[in-house]
Amino acid sequence: MRAYSRKELKRRRRAVAEAVGPEGVLIMPAAREVIRNRDVHYPFRQNSDFAWLTGFPEPDAVAVIAPRHRSGEFTLFCRPKDPERELWDGRRHGVEGAVEQFGADTAYTREELDEQLPVLLADRERIFYPLALDPEFDLCVLNWLQAVRAKARSGVTAPSELVSSDGILHAHRLIKSAAEADTMRRAARISAAAHRRLMRSARPGLGEQQLEAIFLNACAERGARHQAYQPIVGGGANACVLHYVDNDDDLRDGDLVLVDAGCELDGYASDITRTFPVSGRFSEPQRQLYDLVLKAQQAAIAAVKPGKRWDAPHKAALRVLTRGLVDLGLIEGDAADVPQLIKDEKYKPFYMHRTGHWLGMDVHDVGAYKQDRKWRPLEPGMVLTVEPGLYVSPDSDAPEAYRGIGIRIEDDVLVTEDGHEVLSRDVPKDAEEIERLMMQARRPVAAKTTPDNRTET
Ligand code: GLY
Ligand code: MN
Ligand code: MN
Repeated sequence: MRAYSRKELKRRRRAVAEAVGPEGVLIMPAAREVIRNRDVHYPFRQNSDFAWLTGFPEPDAVAVIAPRHRSGEFTLFCRPKDPERELWDGRRHGVEGAVEQFGADTAYTREELDEQLPVLLADRERIFYPLALDPEFDLCVLNWLQAVRAKARSGVTAPSELVSSDGILHAHRLIKSAAEADTMRRAARISAAAHRRLMRSARPGLGEQQLEAIFLNACAERGARHQAYQPIVGGGANACVLHYVDNDDDLRDGDLVLVDAGCELDGYASDITRTFPVSGRFSEPQRQLYDLVLKAQQAAIAAVKPGKRWDAPHKAALRVLTRGLVDLGLIEGDAADVPQLIKDEKYKPFYMHRTGHWLGMDVHDVGAYKQDRKWRPLEPGMVLTVEPGLYVSPDSDAPEAYRGIGIRIEDDVLVTEDGHEVLSRDVPKDAEEIERLMMQARRPVAAKTTPDNRTET
């Protein structure tokens, strides 16, 4: 994970310190390495709150923000330098690097946590930390609190409030800076290029796993080694399983395939879904449902602008989908009274998830969806997904032609000052555009390929 500029990281910490206030202190642990078996670990992924605050890439670290503390506002505890361990496991920044490269005012080794944390907590009223996230860390905080209390006779006061750090940090993480938006734009472009390559490669006889491999490879080639989540590649009725990740079935002629995949770049997620025909041509019933989902997605994206509430895109999608489902005979009801059909959730058997979520360092990113119990208004700098779908189970009593069809179309959308920017716009989603792209890929290559007329992107 590439660290952000020192200036940006400092600006983030300053904003957090303002919210913590001189009576407060914030403690944020890094992620821990998790053992898979014996001496093999799961791939390490830094805790997003910790990464956002510090840019420090190593496990086993703890950051403390103590506004106006005599030893400085930002203290970082980390692993010491250790030539023997570094020979085996790679470079460590050590306390020197914590100060010189990551801007800590003071740095200690992890071994000094129990001695120094009570000093940092002394005479503060409240501790902000990721409350009840990791029972082991909860216990550490309680022990440090006890240690401060033990000094009461020497005139030290101990904090009396434990407060979740989520409110402070997540309010900031929700609004992306220009640098963050740019990283997310680059992540979405890489995923878009990978989706295009995968669409061109799809054909009957390949397996879901092979499409997944094409996606992973195309992302890695472009500098994104990690995925934001496990790719979903569902051919035919597998697309009706919302979180299908087996990806081990064959792709069959006449079926659609749903691909929900997005890389992570420098700690930021992309999250894109496209659904297209394995053979390169939609059948009539597939096209009817596809065009309906696309129309719903376009209506939902049009509702993304500052001042619109969070649920405006969802409501826009529901209006289009519900009306379309009546017209196609999948739900019974009065086409003239769509609001009542929506109230009765008639769409639910075919559309059972919401139309999107916040996107950022985490794929289902942090940030409150409601303020004062009402859906919050969208603001410039927020990034959300817009992902309506329709899933007609093979066991459904819908008209037979539609059974076993699952479709989702998902884009990543940045709220701008005057509307929105679709970060993932580089993957085609119009049915005819998809067919054209897939047909082009099937034409035998005529002339020699030069860098100037290469179609591969
Ligand atoms: N890929 C997970 C989601 O779309 O929410
Ligand atoms: Mn997705
Ligand atoms: Mn999503």
